[in-house]
Amino acid sequence: MSDATTQEQLQAFYYFPSTVYIIEKPEFLADAKAACKKAVAIRKKETKLDEIYPVYMTGNLFEYKGMDKLSEYIGQTAWNILKEQGYAMEGFTTKFAEFWCQEHYKHSAMDQHIHGFGSQIVGFYFTETPKDCSRAVFHDPRSSKVQINLPESDPSQAMPASNMINFEPKPGMLMFTNAWLAHSFTRHASNKPIQFIHFNLYVEPVAQAPVCQNPAEIV
Ligand SMILES: [Fe+2]
Repeated sequence: MSDATTQEQLQAFYYFPSTVYIIEKPEFLADAKAACKKAVAIRKKETKLDEIYPVYMTGNLFEYKGMDKLSEYIGQTAWNILKEQGYAMEGFTTKFAEFWCQEHYKHSAMDQHIHGFGSQIVGFYFTETPKDCSRAVFHDPRSSKVQINLPESDPSQAMPASNMINFEPKPGMLMFTNAWLAHSFTRHASNKPIQFIHFNLYVEPVAQAPVCQNPAEIV
């Protein structure tokens, strides 16, 4: 069988999707840039840029001006995403495992990885994206498909056969996805650094007021 055309149209049902969510949020950009600049300056004093992995990774950014608003927006949006995906989120809240800045220099990249240890949602907020900067890549999570993959007819197209999908970052772009979707960054080709905030969120039960089964008698 090969390349036979037919007028019939099969009904297709798509299940178990992998979703990447993107929204432009330029209103957080000025504060995020200022926070990253200060945090990176601290790292620069503490450590020398590595020749093999030319990146500065900061501590968490919660203490910097405006980062309470950005983290609140991210936390609520992560909750909304999980709710919309069909999880029973009532009685649960989202919490940050990490919320830190990365500043990558020429030839830097990020290898494919996932964030375990309870993370449910991961994402990025881009602050500096010079021309020829790294692209954010998300990888096919279907391990059994990866094992039996065939060559793709056109890897530039996003198709059910695709192995990975990449996105060109822009300043102010906020991305979310499920933590089980592995991500990476392509090699950075610009003389100017790419800079972004990377965040990971886990889910925790909301503390309930204790229910007193045997209230003490009030005299
Ligand atoms: Fe990551």
